[in-house]
Amino acid sequence: MLNAGICGFGALGHVHANSLSKLDGVAVKAVCDINPAQLSATEVKFNIAAEQGAFDVKTATPYLDFAQMLAREKLDLVVITTPTNLHADYSIMALDAGCHVFCEKPMSLSVEDCDRVIAARDRNRRQLMIGQCIRFWPEYEYLQACIQDGRYGKLQSLMMERNASYHVEGSWFNDHKRSGGAILDLHVHDVDWALSALGRPDKITARGVIGQTGGVDDITSIWQYGSSTILTIRGSWMYSGFRMGYTAFFENATVEYHPGTNIGFKVSQLWKGAIPGIQIPQESGYFREMRYFLECLRGEHANTRCTPESTRQSIQTALMERAMCLGR
Ligand SMILES: NC(=O)c1ccc[n+]([C@@H]2O[C@H](COP(=O)([O-])OP(=O)(O)OC[C@H]3O[C@@H](n4cnc5c(N)ncnc54)[C@H](O)[C@@H]3O)[C@@H](O)[C@H]2O)c1
Repeated sequence: MLNAGICGFGALGHVHANSLSKLDGVAVKAVCDINPAQLSATEVKFNIAAEQGAFDVKTATPYLDFAQMLAREKLDLVVITTPTNLHADYSIMALDAGCHVFCEKPMSLSVEDCDRVIAARDRNRRQLMIGQCIRFWPEYEYLQACIQDGRYGKLQSLMMERNASYHVEGSWFNDHKRSGGAILDLHVHDVDWALSALGRPDKITARGVIGQTGGVDDITSIWQYGSSTILTIRGSWMYSGFRMGYTAFFENATVEYHPGTNIGFKVSQLWKGAIPGIQIPQESGYFREMRYFLECLRGEHANTRCTPESTRQSIQTALMERAMCLGR
């Protein structure tokens, strides 16, 4: 049995606690949050469908201080779901305490911090994975498989989008020094997926708008692969509501994913219409990524799907886009 601790019991703390509760061979023993009210909250509002309601916080020992939780508990793994500016330091604290670490995305707000975390993983010989959940999202896995096996011909162009509204007034998300702004918090999901599915592009052109966080909160990025495949990635915190998805134009079909709309998930062949009966697993990427991480910890396979080195590259790429947006 693996003993888990969670640090930061807000939206994602709940999501991962619920996933862990549904997985065998692991128990959430301790939960830490600096806000005592969070340690008794049973549900949080969240804009993406995820595992709900399986975890009862009363079954875990509550802590207001992360160092104390690490010192007092015998934890095998720690899940870091704090504000982003703490990801690097808290991951390092947990690794140095001998724990494996699953840390939410983005890995950190600088490449230097990513390197510090990777160094801590290496000196402690622990496992580290960043929660880039879109890599494990069934509809995105399907798209990646189409690109890899060419079942609909070559990918010619791909439009990806991720739009949300600003967080409530006073939220740490609204300070780009803590969240990175929409470019590092939201858009990084699509940057990370595109790098993992398609590799590095030959050329990136990015333009953005500075928003309420003081950082780049609206971004349009065009990625070119050779002279043929073009990617357009839109990300914004200036939207009213939440919308994510993609439209992929292959030689012989269009693959679309627009959850919450009447399109949903759809594959249409040129001149023939929608292909019926395509099965997509009904599990969230959050659940699938956590199950994968636990399999890595049990030695069932190595982590080849979401290495810290690859998530470091996503931070580096988003920061490069940010520099273009700021005209640097
Ligand atoms: N993978 C995804 O789809 C996804 C979605 C949303 C958020 N996130 C990421 O998850 C992380 C957390 O986001 P969230 O939406 O859960 O935020 P949140 O504000 O809901 O939760 C963060 C929690 O951390 C607590 N906290 C703050 N400082 C702390 C400290 N020093 N020690 C312990 N607890 C502390 C806060 O009190 C809060 O309860 C962020 O990095 C965010 O980018 C990922």
